[in-house]
Amino acid sequence: MGKSIEPTTCINLGERSYPIYVSPGLLNELGSIIQESISNITSCVVVTSAVIDKLYGKNFNNSLSDLEPFIIEVPDGEEAKTWDNLSRLIDEFLHLGLDRKSVVIAIGGGTIGDLVGFAGSIYMRGIRVVQVPTTILGQADSSIGGKTAVNHMKAKNLVGSFYQPSLVISDTQILRSLPRREIRSGLAEIVKHGVISSLELFNNIQKNSAKLLDTDINILTKVISHSVEIKASYIEQDEKEKTGIRSLLNYGHTVGHAIETHSDGEINHGEAISIGMTVAGMISQDISLFKETDLERQTKVLNELGLKTGTSEICIDELIKIMRKDKKTESGELRFILPTGIGVKPIQKKVDESLIIKKLGENY
Ligand SMILES: NC(=O)c1ccc[n+]([C@@H]2O[C@H](COP(=O)([O-])OP(=O)(O)OC[C@H]3O[C@@H](n4cnc5c(N)ncnc54)[C@H](O)[C@@H]3O)[C@@H](O)[C@H]2O)c1
Ligand SMILES: [Zn+2]
Repeated sequence: MGKSIEPTTCINLGERSYPIYVSPGLLNELGSIIQESISNITSCVVVTSAVIDKLYGKNFNNSLSDLEPFIIEVPDGEEAKTWDNLSRLIDEFLHLGLDRKSVVIAIGGGTIGDLVGFAGSIYMRGIRVVQVPTTILGQADSSIGGKTAVNHMKAKNLVGSFYQPSLVISDTQILRSLPRREIRSGLAEIVKHGVISSLELFNNIQKNSAKLLDTDINILTKVISHSVEIKASYIEQDEKEKTGIRSLLNYGHTVGHAIETHSDGEINHGEAISIGMTVAGMISQDISLFKETDLERQTKVLNELGLKTGTSEICIDELIKIMRKDKKTESGELRFILPTGIGVKPIQKKVDESLIIKKLGENY
C-alpha cells in the first residue's frame, strides 16, 4: 500500500530540491510519502483549520498514525496570516518541544500554507515543512516556490521569507468539497500560468471550463499538474526573484494585490488577479504589445469561469495609493508584467500612472 508513488515533478534547486505530488487520493498516503522522502524525523506537527479537520481529519490522522502527529488548529482564510497567529504557532512549537529534526505539515489553503511556511522558516532558523494544499490555488500555485508571509495591516504579504518546503503533496480528490467561489479563484492563477507560458494549458482550460467548475477531478489533476510544472520552471530559473524571471509570475498582481487589499476581504486573491490580468492586458494592448483578440480571449475564459474582469465600484485613487506602496514598486515607479501573447513570455515594464488610471477608468 502506498509504495513508490511517483512524484508528478521535482523542483530542482540544488540542496533545496523537492518532489511535488499531484494526484487524487494522496491524503491517504501522506504518512508513507513523507517517510519515504524525509529522513530522521523526531516529531511531527500538523497545522490545519477546523474546516479541514472536520472534513478530512480522519483521513490524515489515519495515514499519519505512524508519525503520531500533534494537531494545531489555526483560523481559516486571510485572517490566518497575522502576527498573532504566527506568534501563537511559535509558542506551540516550543511548547510541544519541536526540534530541528521535527517536521511541520501545513494542511489547508494558501493562507495556512503561507503562515505555516513562515513559522517553519523562522522557528530555530528553519525546520522542515511539508505543504499539503487543499485548494486549487494552493495546489496549482502557492504551495510551490517557497514564498511565505503574513500580512501587515497596510500591505498584504509584507513580512515573510523565501523558504522552500521539503515536500508538496496535493490530493486533487479533496478539491471536490471546495466552495464554488474558491474553485473560480484558484482557476484564475491557472489561467495566469496559461497566458504567460502555455497555449496548450490555456486551450485546455478554455475547452473544459464547465468541467473544471464542476470539479472534474481528471481535468483538474491535469491542469494543476501542468501549472505546477510551469511554476517550477520559473522558480528554478530565479528562486529568489532576483533576475526578473520569477517576477513574471506576478502577472495580474500589481492591480490585483491593490484590489485585494482595498476590498478588505470582500474580493479574494484569485478574483482580484482576474481583474488585475484584465487591466494589465488592456495596458499592454494600448501600447501594442498584446493583440485585441488575445485580450478578448483572456477575458472570455475568465468570464466563462465565472470570474469578474471589470473594476466597477473600485476607487481608482485608492488603488493607485496602494500600488505605490507595493513591494513590486521600485523607487516610486509602478512596474507591470505585460502579456505579449497567449502562451508567450510576458515582459516587465514601467507604466505611467496616467495610463493605469485611464485603463482602470475604461474597465467597467
Ligand atoms: N506563497 C505564494 O507563492 C502564494 C501564491 C498565491 C497566493 N498566495 C496566498 O494564498 C492565499 C489564498 O489562498 P487560498 O485561495 O487557498 O485561500 P484560503 O486558504 O483562504 O482557503 C479558501 C477557503 O477554502 C476553504 N477550504 C480550503 N480547502 C478546502 C477544501 N478542500 N474543502 C472545502 N473548503 C476548503 C478554507 O476553509 C477557506 O475558507 C492568499 O493569502 C495569497 O496571498 C500565496
Ligand atoms: Zn497569486
